[in-house]
Amino acid sequence: MNLEGKFAVVTGGGSGIGLAITKTMRAAGSDVLIVGRNEARLNAARGDDSGIRLGCGIAGIERQRRACTASPRSLRRQTRGDSIHVLEVLPPIVETELTKDFGGPKIGPEVVGAAVVKALVHNRSELRIGRAKFLSTMSRIAPNGIFSLINRAAEKRSLDR
Ligand SMILES: NC(=O)c1ccc[n+]([C@@H]2O[C@H](COP(=O)([O-])OP(=O)(O)OC[C@H]3O[C@@H](n4cnc5c(N)ncnc54)[C@H](OP(=O)(O)O)[C@@H]3O)[C@@H](O)[C@H]2O)c1
Repeated sequence: MNLEGKFAVVTGGGSGIGLAITKTMRAAGSDVLIVGRNEARLNAARGDDSGIRLGCGIAGIERQRRACTASPRSLRRQTRGDSIHVLEVLPPIVETELTKDFGGPKIGPEVVGAAVVKALVHNRSELRIGRAKFLSTMSRIAPNGIFSLINRAAEKRSLDR
């Protein structure tokens, strides 16, 4: 897989899924800008790799979950005509610090990294992995139903803790 000459921006590239994507993209030859709030973590992720540059945190990125599905589409519209490719990634549960207390099946972050590079090489704009394909289809057919399902699961998880 060759991404030589490309420049990627990976938000949250200092840890978890973002770090795995950063590593795979570097291995494929792309330069990468990683964005986060914790400078020490970003520096550790970069190490001595001059192909990785650091960016600062984006305020309020967590503010609206629903914006997560709207923003790739609007970003794509806003950058139409520029040589910018926006890839929206929806994975199932991935083994990271964030999910260390979650039960059930998980995939490794390196699986997401490899899938991202493959999707970019094939010029895809959306990437759904494994069980996330079902959620994505359902969220188009019945968006309110799927949000209440996710909220119920999140509430149950916080009660179980
Ligand atoms: N793990 C899963 O199973 C899973 C599944 C589906 C979707 N996701 C989503 O995928 C993303 C990454 O998940 P992860 O498991 O890799 O978690 P993670 O390791 O906690 O990664 C979150 C990253 O986002 C960065 N970040 C948080 N707030 C930010 C802000 N305001 N500006 C810039 N960067 C910010 C954090 O860096 P700093 O602390 O340095 O800011 C961190 O590197 C999350 O949005 C998560 O909801 C995860």
